[in-house]
Amino acid sequence: MKMHSVSSRALLLPASLLLTLASANPVRPGTGCPNQPFDYVIVGGGTAGGVLAARLTEDPSITVAVIEAGTWPENVHGNWTQVPMFAGNFYHITDPMMWPFTTTPQTALTGAGGVRPYFRPKAFGGCSDVNAMAFGHSSVGAHKMLADAVGDQSYTYDKMLQYYHKTMNFTPYDYSSTRFANATPEYNSADTVTGGGLGVSYPAYAQPWSTWLSKGLEAIGLKKVPAFINGNLMGQSFHQNTIFHSNGHRSSSESAYLRPAAVRRNLFLYDYTMAERILFDRSKTATGVQVNGTCTISARREVLLSAGVFQSPQLLMVSGVGPKDVLRAHNIPVVVDRPGVGQNLQEHIVSFVAYQVNVDTGDRLADPAYLQQAINEFNDHASGPLTSVGGDFMAMEKIPEDLRASWPESTKQALGRLPADWPEIAYAILPSAIPAEFATPVVPPIPGANYAAAVFVLFAPQSVGNVTIASADVHTPPLINPALFSHQADVDVMVAGLKRVRQALATEDMAPVLIGPETVPGAQVQTDEQIIEFLRSTVNPFQHAFSTNKMGKPNDPSAVVDSNGKVYGVKNLRVVDASAFPFLPPGPAPQIQVYTHAEKFADLIKADRHH
Ligand SMILES: Cc1cc2nc3c(=O)[nH]c(=O)nc-3n(C[C@H](O)[C@H](O)[C@H](O)COP(=O)(O)OP(=O)(O)OC[C@H]3O[C@@H](n4cnc5c(N)ncnc54)[C@H](O)[C@@H]3O)c2cc1C
Ligand SMILES: *[C@@H]1O[C@H](CO)[C@@H](O)[C@H](O)[C@H]1NC(C)=O
Ligand SMILES: *[C@@H]1O[C@H](CO)[C@@H](O)[C@H](O)[C@H]1NC(C)=O
Ligand SMILES: *[C@@H]1O[C@H](CO)[C@@H](O)[C@H](O)[C@H]1NC(C)=O
Repeated sequence: MKMHSVSSRALLLPASLLLTLASANPVRPGTGCPNQPFDYVIVGGGTAGGVLAARLTEDPSITVAVIEAGTWPENVHGNWTQVPMFAGNFYHITDPMMWPFTTTPQTALTGAGGVRPYFRPKAFGGCSDVNAMAFGHSSVGAHKMLADAVGDQSYTYDKMLQYYHKTMNFTPYDYSSTRFANATPEYNSADTVTGGGLGVSYPAYAQPWSTWLSKGLEAIGLKKVPAFINGNLMGQSFHQNTIFHSNGHRSSSESAYLRPAAVRRNLFLYDYTMAERILFDRSKTATGVQVNGTCTISARREVLLSAGVFQSPQLLMVSGVGPKDVLRAHNIPVVVDRPGVGQNLQEHIVSFVAYQVNVDTGDRLADPAYLQQAINEFNDHASGPLTSVGGDFMAMEKIPEDLRASWPESTKQALGRLPADWPEIAYAILPSAIPAEFATPVVPPIPGANYAAAVFVLFAPQSVGNVTIASADVHTPPLINPALFSHQADVDVMVAGLKRVRQALATEDMAPVLIGPETVPGAQVQTDEQIIEFLRSTVNPFQHAFSTNKMGKPNDPSAVVDSNGKVYGVKNLRVVDASAFPFLPPGPAPQIQVYTHAEKFADLIKADRHH
């Protein structure tokens, strides 16, 4: 689960309250099985797919089809996905808009049989319809490491800046009009741009809890720095958000890229359409995609695979591109033996320390009168708590010396390979009680009271898992095994993370906001063994999974795509999504890495046309 959005309890809303939030209807679907080929066929109309579709169809001479298993989120949930605070509503794998994904039982975890949910929307916009809306860059050092690893210096921070800029349409405003004085965002205007694809701003509402945790973290050494949009990740800052400031709505791949482009006559959107197989001719050239059993959607130039971190490798495997043993076990004819397909799965993990607090948190939205007021404020003035997705603040650091002194050499070595400017841990907030399915508070919750958590997230994961197929039929969910907590370094960093968060909470600066004792994990959890036991039962994916079709050099047998996203061993097929990130950490805002790469790939694809 994504801890930094509000829990389900804010979201059990009577539909009537949200009448002013019903949906605008979708535009120009493709209808039935097409009999004409398209220049490009994009599989998956999610975060990356939406960007590619919008950018490629800027040229009216290019035709593009998008194959999406879901539909417009508005067709399923009205315009609830547009309301930032309601994101937590979708963190249920049984929701009709979500894929029914979980991890396989994780051997290092306890609770729920070691199984954890994965929240992936089946809808135009994909994860960007429900994510926590953080906008940010990766670090200078991480870009350099990435560029060296893939042997392509066009991935350095300086070179990628133009693509970061293509994602940003920044709106500043008079922050003092709606935010607390001590929640005034700090950033350098020179780092912001207008004219890019996504609405970017700061939410009109700041979480009071963030202003308190900010003080506690500052007291333990995390300095305030300008927004994380300049290549630096160390220190603390309010997040810039993917938000339209004018109405407080979520800015997503759907609302900012796909919907505006959907009116174009050269864009054909096939919703409710499951891609079943990528088709190759005898020369291993991708020629199109099979859908609905018998229908072929043909590509004259390229098939672009943007089905996400779990389903892009799944589609490659069922289409005959993957580890040959796996393909043979499922009687799938081997087109290319690529052992790296589905490997290298990495994830950020999250846990928390919680208290009752004496400021308003999302818990107050359980009060119907307060909720109604918040809805009116949102609809009438684009302000109030619903403009906030919850986690509006982040702090990052390497674990300080005193807490790493006792680490084994293996942990020191693993972390030592990361860039000097790469944070190992991030601190964030959850402005609500921790949902009951994730932890049992040691102090029984008081109805009507406000709770909050300090959240810590592993940003230097060393555990490496995999995703594989359970069947040759793409309709059978893939087996997702992130191998969480399988590397000792991850355990060591998370134990230190919990201790750091407790240091911040114990500062005098935070005393005025905390009521009573720690509720999760509670004072009885003290020794390293007890902390590890708590972590095993509570860590969850931060929903940032990446790298299952690793980008790499031609001589790297574990690489799946080259630095242009082209799949090794076949022609006219690229992967453009979170699966294609190389092994490096994608940063505090992986969605922006996905958007940025998709912007870059749109340029590369257009340039390739002329060769
Ligand atoms: C709850 C949550 C919170 C997050 N918070 C943040 C955050 O605050 N900041 C941040 O930067 N990142 C965040 N992330 C991560 C980020 O959103 C994702 O890494 C990124 O959006 C992934 O984009 P993608 O294009 O790879 O995949 P997706 O956006 O998942 O798109 C894949 C698309 O392919 C479709 N599809 C899959 N298989 C098929 C098929 N066989 N046929 C047809 N269609 C198919 C899917 O339905 C989906 O629309 C969060 C993610 C989640 C889930
Ligand atoms: C939500 O629906 C209402 C009523 O149809 C409409 O006025 C509003 O523009 C919609 N918002 C979005 C983001 O579509
Ligand atoms: C595939 O079938 C679904 C119904 O199951 C339909 O809604 C969709 O339009 C079909 N797609 C194509 C491309 O025919
Ligand atoms: C995935 O990883 C697990 C161990 O974590 C291993 O047992 C399994 O064989 C791997 N599967 C594939 C297909 O690589």
